[in-house]
Amino acid sequence: MPTSILVTYASKHGATREIAERVAAVLGHSGLEVDVKPVEAVSDPTPYRAIVLGTAMYMGFWMKSAKRFLVDHEAELAQREVWMFVSGPTGEGDAEELMDGHLVQPVLEPVLERIAPRDVHVFHGAIAPESLGWFERFVIRMVKADTGDFRDWQAIDAWAERIASALATAA
Ligand SMILES: Cc1cc2nc3c(=O)[nH]c(=O)nc-3n(C[C@H](O)[C@H](O)[C@H](O)COP(=O)(O)O)c2cc1C
Repeated sequence: MPTSILVTYASKHGATREIAERVAAVLGHSGLEVDVKPVEAVSDPTPYRAIVLGTAMYMGFWMKSAKRFLVDHEAELAQREVWMFVSGPTGEGDAEELMDGHLVQPVLEPVLERIAPRDVHVFHGAIAPESLGWFERFVIRMVKADTGDFRDWQAIDAWAERIASALATAA
């Protein structure tokens, strides 16, 4: 029976990776054995008891590597406890409301139904314009997205603590 936890992430510019690392640190502090790695580096989730998957959101879509992971490993994930987070909206206000109903792409809905994650949580993200290419800067200007770091570390810690206690209760 596997005991360790995988925290894996799909991140383009690093904001989602840092959220995943924070979640992993909180789980680690609560005494769990945790691996944290980019989703592209995970070929097999079966050695893990539970999986936390985070993805950044770009132009309304989860990152391809996260989608591929869900589709390729649907059967294994469906047998494990899975938590997901999306790092996306910038600007003030409730993160999920800022997404305006565009959290899960319809094509992924049946996959998620079968995996049945414990939660799909939305966190505010971060946009550092200096790290973007010209096209991304153009998109950001067009949609008038707020730039800056809107990540709410307290909310991230609280979410990770909820996962830690769910895993402790189940163990
Ligand atoms: C070109 C571009 C498009 C984006 N599109 C969305 C979007 O559709 N929905 C959203 O919530 N956030 C969007 N974001 C915000 C990112 O998801 C957010 O900045 C995220 O934290 C980035 O994570 P990363 O640094 O790990 O790649 C976009 C950001 C950029 C630069």
